[in-house]
Amino acid sequence: MKLLKLDKDKDLRLKSRPMAKILIIHGPNLNLLGSREPDVYGSKTLDSINKSLVQEGKKLEHQLFCFQSNSEQQLIEKIQQAPNDEIAFIIINPAAFTHYSIALRDALLAVAVPFIEVHLSNIFKREPFRHHSYFSDIALGVISGFGDRSYLLALEEAHHYLLATE
Ligand code: DQA
Repeated sequence: MKLLKLDKDKDLRLKSRPMAKILIIHGPNLNLLGSREPDVYGSKTLDSINKSLVQEGKKLEHQLFCFQSNSEQQLIEKIQQAPNDEIAFIIINPAAFTHYSIALRDALLAVAVPFIEVHLSNIFKREPFRHHSYFSDIALGVISGFGDRSYLLALEEAHHYLLATE
């Protein structure tokens, strides 16, 4: 009986919890997913990946915003805007910028919004220049190598983090 009551209280707490806003950022060339090197990045389009994420986010009671750009400037501006937009968490695949953008790294440090770095491919199995990331040491964690599932795994961890820090 007592257990039942506890579960009910937990349900009520979950229902009254405000939705967290989570920003998904995709870097350059990820707009080409589906046709871009499908043997490396899989056959799903960015649109279908985003749709699955938004759907999964809803189930977890979060509001997801997806953004892709090929331009470093636009990505930086989006990150700078995150605190004003009340973004609680960022999931980012910086794509090629992973390996050389100090400016994007600095933007994430400046806003101090917790984030997870995501890659579809396992960057450590690939060319040596992909082994270094300007983000991994400042990210909560890195998920790399699970195709489109990398994003879903990141969302699950973001949810876990948000619950734990509520
Ligand atoms: C990538 C890996 C990067 O090295 C590459 O430049 C990308 C995609 C990935 O998701 O596997 O564009 O971030």
